[in-house]
Amino acid sequence: MAELTATLPRILIVDDEPLIIRMLNTVLKTRYDIQVATSGEEALAMSISDAPELILLDVGLPDMDGYEVCRRLQRNPDTRDIPVIFQTKHDERQDILRGFEAGGRDYVLKDASVMVLMARIDTHLQLHRQKSALEAAMVKNRMQNDKMASLGQLVVGIAHEINNPMGYVFTNLQILARYFNKIVEERRGRHGSDGELSPPASQTSDEREEMEHILEDGVSLIRESLEGVERVTQIAQELKNFSRMDALEQKAVELNVCMESALTICSNELKYVAVIRKEYEPVPEVLCHPGQLSQVFLNLLVNAGQAVVPMGEIVLRSWCDEAYVYASVSDTGVGIPPELLDRIFEPFYTTKDVGEGTGLGLSISHDIIAKHHGELLVASRVGFGTTFTVKLPRTQDAS
Ligand SMILES: Nc1ncnc2c1ncn2[C@@H]1O[C@H](COP(=O)(O)OP(=O)(O)OP(=O)(O)O)[C@@H](O)[C@H]1O
Ligand SMILES: [Mg+2]
Repeated sequence: MAELTATLPRILIVDDEPLIIRMLNTVLKTRYDIQVATSGEEALAMSISDAPELILLDVGLPDMDGYEVCRRLQRNPDTRDIPVIFQTKHDERQDILRGFEAGGRDYVLKDASVMVLMARIDTHLQLHRQKSALEAAMVKNRMQNDKMASLGQLVVGIAHEINNPMGYVFTNLQILARYFNKIVEERRGRHGSDGELSPPASQTSDEREEMEHILEDGVSLIRESLEGVERVTQIAQELKNFSRMDALEQKAVELNVCMESALTICSNELKYVAVIRKEYEPVPEVLCHPGQLSQVFLNLLVNAGQAVVPMGEIVLRSWCDEAYVYASVSDTGVGIPPELLDRIFEPFYTTKDVGEGTGLGLSISHDIIAKHHGELLVASRVGFGTTFTVKLPRTQDAS
């Protein structure tokens, strides 16, 4: 008989015969938290107020029969999931069928042994608990998906908001650069062809020097600002690609592009801890969800960055053979002991401090790659480093 957990499960016994109630109470009370109802109405009320985990229901009740009680329990969303076991006097096929039709999960004979009764009750309690846990997990999953979807929308919205002002800042800077160039050219023109800047006659030499400095510096400041704006625009674009808005849509993309997209997002952090090398080979495009694959590479890159602290090397590679396309992220970090290589893909497994890691990165990445019919492979040597390889079948080859 399966063992139940420390808190006694609450079960509701519905019967109007005092002798049976007393007998059931005596044999079951050490194992369950027993509540008793002696009529159909009372059973319906108590199934809401006492929230039993299971109901042991007699068929013959004074105000309504057990089948009717069961049907009413089924109609109420608050009680429809409580498993009901009918207690019948006879093993009559007709009665048993009526019980199942009314929504009962099982039946036991009134003269069944205590062992049989407990086994049936335990089985249905376990099933009920597992079902509830599964439903709770599904709700959590749905909430997580909803959260990701709204996060995606938020990110796209922000990226859009950033892109708009960046557009005119970029245009203005370009115009400003032209103005500056014009001024510089004009001053050079006034002086002649040797390229020396020619100041107005009224300026002192200090003023002249300052003006030359402003003009030269101004040109390089504008150039730098233009580069900065381009980079922000690129990041905003990557955020859009990245925001999982492509969850439904498949696209033909080269894995190199997904790696680059992930690198754009984290390169700023990685540059303090790692030298990045790229050894991309031309690989065929695969039909995929590029945002999700970028998320995988981002997870791998962040892990690699955390593994190489204080300083190391990260190499991104891609290659292919007749059947597969590969992309790998290698680091020269701490490595992973062989006995932990299986555990790292488990959800919530982490060796990082609270706040630094949730232990979900690899588990999510593994699922994404599995959904793409591929494999996420790992090879590691403690003290030397780790390589994670994404292997996708070319059957999804877009060409
Ligand atoms: N490149 C790596 N080098 C060494 N250990 C690694 C590497 N990548 C992952 N690990 C180990 O695997 C564990 C699980 O990684 P995973 O990415 O799933 O979670 P996390 O990085 O701890 O947290 P999260 O990614 O959710 O922020 C890590 O805590 C670390 O111990
Ligand atoms: Mg991680």
